[in-house]
Amino acid sequence: MSPPDGLSAGIGTAPDGSSAAIGTDTASRDHPVLVVDFGAQYAQLIARRVREAHIYSEIVPHSISAQEISARQPGAVIFSGGPKSVHVEGSPRIDPDIYRLGIPILGICYGAQLIAAQLGGEVSRTGIGEYGRTAMSVSDPGTLFGPDEDTERPVWMSHFDSIATPPDGFVITASTPQAPVAALEHPDQRIYGVQFHPEVAHTPGGQAVLERFLYQGAGLAPSWTTESFIDEAVDAIRAQIGDGRVVCGLSGGVDSAVAAALVHRAVGQQLTCVFVDTGLMRQDEGQQVIDAFRRSQGIELIAVDAADRFFEALVGVIDPEEKRKIIGELFIRIFEEAANQVDGAAFLVQGTLYPDVIESGSDSAAKIKSHHNVGGIPEEMDFELVEPLRDLFKDEVRAVGHELGLPDEIVWRQPFPGPGLGVRVIGEVTPNKVALLSKADAIVRAEIHDAGLDREVWQAFAVLPDIRTVGVMGDERTYGHVVVIRAVTSEDAMTADWARLPYDLLEKMSSRIINEVDGINRVAYDITSKPPGTIEWE
Ligand code: XMP
Repeated sequence: MSPPDGLSAGIGTAPDGSSAAIGTDTASRDHPVLVVDFGAQYAQLIARRVREAHIYSEIVPHSISAQEISARQPGAVIFSGGPKSVHVEGSPRIDPDIYRLGIPILGICYGAQLIAAQLGGEVSRTGIGEYGRTAMSVSDPGTLFGPDEDTERPVWMSHFDSIATPPDGFVITASTPQAPVAALEHPDQRIYGVQFHPEVAHTPGGQAVLERFLYQGAGLAPSWTTESFIDEAVDAIRAQIGDGRVVCGLSGGVDSAVAAALVHRAVGQQLTCVFVDTGLMRQDEGQQVIDAFRRSQGIELIAVDAADRFFEALVGVIDPEEKRKIIGELFIRIFEEAANQVDGAAFLVQGTLYPDVIESGSDSAAKIKSHHNVGGIPEEMDFELVEPLRDLFKDEVRAVGHELGLPDEIVWRQPFPGPGLGVRVIGEVTPNKVALLSKADAIVRAEIHDAGLDREVWQAFAVLPDIRTVGVMGDERTYGHVVVIRAVTSEDAMTADWARLPYDLLEKMSSRIINEVDGINRVAYDITSKPPGTIEWE
């Protein structure tokens, strides 16, 4: 059950073991690799792969002009794939002046076809596409293929059109049965194209192809490391905050925790964290946050135990969206009360990540759930935002958290909805039901942990539906609660599959929950993928 994209976590150190300082000849954040998005499902994955090669990358829309690209002084540009055909009227293009800038370019799939079409080659509709694993023959190692590697190799394809004739000056370096030009290059102009997808894990050696483009083709040096990020971020935070006072809301999640630890490293006691315990967190989670921040990191922390106020506000509330609204609004009110105790605070830390930044630029999809983010910004509060993680992907945030000394339970914490157990107790939320659920949930997570599956399962938790069933225990009839175990694999929570947990593990969870949690007499396992289900039950 390894993640399908096979991503390794984190920025890590450079391949040569150094944490190279960023010089002018390297692609630091000043010289990013720009990934031009042609509507590909893989644009983010390409950017992450480039960062795994220790080179900073960002995604830009295809509407960007050559002048704008030039102004960013990129170390290289990568064109993503895309769902359209270059022959379709209105299919996405790129400003052709980009080819005159002398910046190294790699086109992937649609991106390669676009290069061919825009530079005078021919892209044909053969009527036969290639989808999935395809055998490719390398005729010339060129820049992108290692001279000692197999000339016959499998690659992942997903295309309908094919490049039939490369533009003048280009060399064909690989082909497949349906794609006479599976890879091409113009080494003098440093323009490269591949019909296959080097960024997906299904292309063995795909990362090496990307790295050869970056290091040999574009001449970039690996400089994007956890250490270099932390150093730059600390300087930027100090420059922004000066000697001001700053507040950070901790949710218990990894993003706010890492953001707080980073700001603390930059400005120390100028930071005060606020932690609102809603009573809807998982077992021992509140205490873990207090221990990790107040005790281990020495961060000033205002902890508010607000469980009673949340339970009171939820009396008689059944509708999930109504719960989210009530919990979200009450959270903000309590957070404000606490933050107002910090005299003269002018800055507020937010754990915004790069995918949020990208996504907020696009039209949002149909609203399925409001995802009312507990821990979100109180809009009417008059703070300047500090967002030290807005350039990072989640796996990079984890690497930074680890480097800053945060404990594994926080760094590797599963995603947890802001409204917490409030949306995992189906129906009315009461202290009793939350207590039952949190015990069962702790067992599920402990067993996943003991089975060594923490990093393979995206989320694993217990749900308490609003039903009771009949059972028999020790010759006595019981009439108790049902607990549902939910465990899913996913890459980004947009889609998910139910985790194929071993039967023995499920059995152990079931018998422990029934034996150890009074009032539960039945355990079920949810075998619904997303779609059609969602990960949470409410
Ligand atoms: P669904 O249930 O929509 O969940 O498949 C997708 C991801 O989002 C989390 N989730 C939430 N996160 N506030 C949050 O901050 C919410 O109200 C909320 N609802 C769901 C869920 O745990 C999963 O990771």
